[in-house]
Amino acid sequence: MMPTITSLAFLITSVLFIVGIKLLASPKTARQGNLVAAAGMLIALFAILPLLHGPHGTSVSPLKLALILAGIVLGLIVGAAGAYKVKMTAMPQMVALFNGAGGGAAALVAAIEFAHLPQAASTAFVVSMLCAAMIGAVSLSGSIIAYFKLEGHFDKPVTYPAQQVVNGLLFLFSLVLAIAMAAGSHSMALMLLFIILALALGVLMVMPIGGADMPVVISLLNSFTGLAVAADGFAIENIAMIIAGTLVGSSGTLLTLTMCKAMNRPVTNVLFSAFGKAETAAAGAAAATGSVRAVQADEAAMLLSMAGRVVIVPGYGLAVAQAQHQVRQLADELALHGVEVSYAIHPVAGRMPGHMNVLLAEADVPYDQLIEMEAINPEMDRVDVCLVIGANDVVNPAAREDKSSPIYGMPIIEAEKAGTVIVMKRSMGKGFAGIENALFLRDNCRMLFGDAKASLQELVALVKAG
Ligand code: TAP
Repeated sequence: MMPTITSLAFLITSVLFIVGIKLLASPKTARQGNLVAAAGMLIALFAILPLLHGPHGTSVSPLKLALILAGIVLGLIVGAAGAYKVKMTAMPQMVALFNGAGGGAAALVAAIEFAHLPQAASTAFVVSMLCAAMIGAVSLSGSIIAYFKLEGHFDKPVTYPAQQVVNGLLFLFSLVLAIAMAAGSHSMALMLLFIILALALGVLMVMPIGGADMPVVISLLNSFTGLAVAADGFAIENIAMIIAGTLVGSSGTLLTLTMCKAMNRPVTNVLFSAFGKAETAAAGAAAATGSVRAVQADEAAMLLSMAGRVVIVPGYGLAVAQAQHQVRQLADELALHGVEVSYAIHPVAGRMPGHMNVLLAEADVPYDQLIEMEAINPEMDRVDVCLVIGANDVVNPAAREDKSSPIYGMPIIEAEKAGTVIVMKRSMGKGFAGIENALFLRDNCRMLFGDAKASLQELVALVKAG
């Protein structure tokens, strides 16, 4: 029986997790949501202490207690230090590592419970353990590979003939082992082999996927970790783990599907094909014609200062250049000139969900200036200047006009409808999808070449002086 104090603490934890995730739904309350959920986690960490016991119900040895407390303190320090130190652009890597650790912990809990299975353990109990071990181990090894890919290692998708067949056989073999264990072969050797196969499956599943698709993969693995934790919770009758695991599992799944929808790619396409590989050639056939018109900073500054309404479209390049503070300064200067400035936010601009919102929030850009894609598009033909900063795919008209394009059908910010479009990027380099952008050749488009930060600094100075 669980002590009442622990049950109560787990109930409070569960409520805090639910309130926390609700608060995370809006940028205004997201920080608060994080703190509320973290408080829930802290309570859960200490709520387990009354549950600890030695063999045959004796009290837990001081050494074990000290080890557990040392683990908690070490984890708190490493987590806090990591979160303070990590750069915004490296956030997906950090999520991958934390997620992998969660999956690994879920698999360990399952393995330890399996090692102490009571004689009369029900099949449902064993199956829950097996699910947690399998999904947790896949999530651990998959997340580690995702981390390395995001760090720029194995930058090409590793593909080989019959990879789906190999993965299928590996899964089938794991299934046979699982059936044997569920049927009563409670051998620890079988469990270890089962976990090793699941670790191999995680590696083989993620290796063929392109590095730039890793945010989607991490979100999917995140939902796997949630499911593994929930399965552990069912087996060891821990309500906080069931609720937390289900929340992570469902939100991770929703996020994965939202990202795929915003990119107009089915999740199977992300998982089973390297993006743009075959399609890019086809898209090349429909390449747009026209000429590139470069603009100098002084002319761009004049166009911006004289506009009535300016819409800024931030993209991945803004995050690379770390120019969020300079964007804010430019918007402030333009506002002093009587220009109405807002930001158009595409759901998958950048490389992780909410990337642009977080980036702009860092520079204290007011939330009410951030306008979602669906809301801004009907107004784009009334915008005088659309300033595209380090964005490419999310403003590519091929998504609406070119059926042969790999991004055809992806919703975009309709920048081309503005009176004038100024695109700030370093070169004619392609974006994430690796395709040409016909917007850059339109008559109303001007290219302001250079690193976004340097160009923005120049624009701020020119608008100020003008
Ligand atoms: P991208 O299409 O990736 O284009 C970014 C552009 O920024 C590049 O063309 C690059 O051009 C420019 N750039 C890079 N560094 C720069 C710098 N220092 N200064 C100025 N410009 C710089 O970006 P996007 O429009 O934000 O689109 C995001 C893409 O990522 C979409 O295709 C989306 O599907 C994909 N994706 C997003 C997510 C999430 S959840 N956000 C997840 C997976 C995939 P130059 O090299 O010429 O400078």
